[in-house]
Amino acid sequence: MMKRHIFLLILLPVTLFSKGWTLDPVVEAKIDSVMQLMTLDEKIGQMTQGHYYAKDAAEAAIRQHAIGSFLNIPHDAGEANRLQRIAVEETRLGIPLLFGLDVIHGFRTMFPIPLAESASWDLEGIRQSAEVAAREAAAAGVHWTFAPMMDIARDPRWGRIAEGAGEDPWLGAAIAKARVQGFQGDDVSAPDRLIACAKHYAAYGAAEGGRDYNTVDISERTLRNVYLPPFKAAVDAGAGTFMSAFNDLNGVPATGNGYLLTDILRNEWGFEGFVVSDWKSILEMVNHGFAEDSAAAALKAITAGVDMDMVADVYLNHLKELVERGAVPETLIDQSVRRILRLKFMAGLFDNPYADESLQDKVMLTPEHRAIARKVAGESIVLLKNENSLLPIRSDVRTLAVVGPLAESKRDLMGCWSASANPDDAVSILDGIRERAGDRLKITCSKGCDISSNDRSGFEKAVQTVQKSDLTIVVLGEGTLMSGEGYSRSDLGLPGVQLDLLKAIQETGKPFVLMLLAGRPLAIPWCAENAPAILLTWQLGLEHGHAAADVLFGDVNPSGKLTVSFPRATGQVPVYYNHLNTGRPRVRQDRFLTGYGDLDITPQYPFGFGLSYTAFDYEDLHLSADQIASEDSLIVTARIKNSGEREGEEIVQLYIRDIISSVTRPVKELKGFRKILLEKGETKTVRFVLKSADLGYDYPGAGFKTEPGEFKIWIGPNSQEGLEGTFRVTGE
Ligand code: NOJ
Repeated sequence: MMKRHIFLLILLPVTLFSKGWTLDPVVEAKIDSVMQLMTLDEKIGQMTQGHYYAKDAAEAAIRQHAIGSFLNIPHDAGEANRLQRIAVEETRLGIPLLFGLDVIHGFRTMFPIPLAESASWDLEGIRQSAEVAAREAAAAGVHWTFAPMMDIARDPRWGRIAEGAGEDPWLGAAIAKARVQGFQGDDVSAPDRLIACAKHYAAYGAAEGGRDYNTVDISERTLRNVYLPPFKAAVDAGAGTFMSAFNDLNGVPATGNGYLLTDILRNEWGFEGFVVSDWKSILEMVNHGFAEDSAAAALKAITAGVDMDMVADVYLNHLKELVERGAVPETLIDQSVRRILRLKFMAGLFDNPYADESLQDKVMLTPEHRAIARKVAGESIVLLKNENSLLPIRSDVRTLAVVGPLAESKRDLMGCWSASANPDDAVSILDGIRERAGDRLKITCSKGCDISSNDRSGFEKAVQTVQKSDLTIVVLGEGTLMSGEGYSRSDLGLPGVQLDLLKAIQETGKPFVLMLLAGRPLAIPWCAENAPAILLTWQLGLEHGHAAADVLFGDVNPSGKLTVSFPRATGQVPVYYNHLNTGRPRVRQDRFLTGYGDLDITPQYPFGFGLSYTAFDYEDLHLSADQIASEDSLIVTARIKNSGEREGEEIVQLYIRDIISSVTRPVKELKGFRKILLEKGETKTVRFVLKSADLGYDYPGAGFKTEPGEFKIWIGPNSQEGLEGTFRVTGE
């Protein structure tokens, strides 16, 4: 009887509000009507997310506790529907379940890891890759992805740097928005969309020593100006959910941090979606020494603003008692349940809780999806060095060797979080090269060594292979399991004996290209000095081999640019372009200026850096005014000329520096970019419009503001080079 009552209430169409948050009174009224019927136990059930360990346990959890959500159910719409039917038909109120999964860079069609993809600076391509991931995952019965990950990361030792968009807050915010839009679209109830989850809130990327799960202790200024901008952008883009991070932030674990979860997220930013904890992160507050037991942890989490408990069952076990003894007001529970139900309405689950099982076979791994993945993969590749235009492979090359432990691997192209991808569907680098070369080239292959063992027994054969070839592609780097969650590294060099293999190859005197696969920036000073050409291909997913061959043979002109600095040595970490100046900047080699006695202070490859097979000249920086008032706009233009021999895309970057401020400001800050295609010989004018508000920063205690004074401005090909100008912001 009761269930019919709900059903009648929800026959009205659900108005969605995926672009930003304006509460829809119709949806809110529906939530009211459901909540009026709910017992406290049922409310707590909705605030609980279970992990699918086994079929029987999952079914029991739904029947017994009417739990609200599952993660990691089998990737199959049939199984999703079976569980959903139990929730809808066999629980008292029939509230549908929300199925969550880590769909991080593709579902069945694996795309480049997010860090690689960010190097494309192609916001539309990035949006599209999230859209494809959503389409495939939704067809398998998933409603909600734990993505995008938007943690700014300045420390490549941290393995999870692979999952984000690099070191820059401005670019990170733009990419966060593109990814949220890609997953959710304009209508998150559509059968091919997923609810997004902005994670890990917040500052997880600043973990001390680059050690996963470690403590974060940063200033309010750094928190707000560096780590929070992508999260704010995610709220503005309409992200449905947030995930609280594992880390302690300035003495308060993020999962019990009311300042983050309520003061900033809710009260300042107006977020109306719900917050899920990270995996047992509520319970981990006991280990943090912030809660004496699991009940105290539950109390701290709900009070801070965590609406759903991911798999720790602490809400299930303690919230009722906490309410009954008056420690938690029931209104707090109601608030969380309302937020969770709001998302279920938004996702259309009350209208249609079931996945269309016929879609599953139709949408996975289609030629169209593979084509998009290949294009995005090609754009993610960064050419770091190309002495004497060794690349693209010249037509007089007749014999090509492909050497190295990653040359034939498929699994290592996937990167962390490979959802439902099957490595067998991947195109290895060797296969991609063979397919493209056809009969034109004689191709030989030799592994040389493993990724990380110390065995040198394969060196000799590899060297012989190199000696018999006109050109060698040496495929080195990290394996799939060397980055991502729980895979921090203390040494950023090439693992195992790979560098020795490269040295042995170099000694032959034969030309070679280093193709570098990695889930993070590596410290490769010897390679940077001695390899004639370096092509960074990261971990590009299923189409890695095709994309790599496209670039090697010149079908695609590389255009990717680094979104994270490459250090010269592990000991130089953290190295990032938007640092402060110090009182003793390193303007020349001088012991008493900031730096190292044994190392150049600059990065090996800076943020924004990447080469092309053509060349671009920057000229005629022009500013529309030499000063602007607070309401004015400054128009900045420059002419970019393709002075090389072929068509190419260039990522033109705009940086500023606020010279004197109430608090010190970075030596450079990215404030815009354009990705432009230029024919051989073509010149284009790029134009940026800057408003005074674009130049501001968050001043602790005083909010966001732009201070009057002198600014420097650059338009350039990376964070270290460019045309330079100055202007002033006046007081009015
Ligand atoms: C822990 C990870 O930190 C988080 O990113 C992920 O979404 C959850 N586990 C669920 O798998």
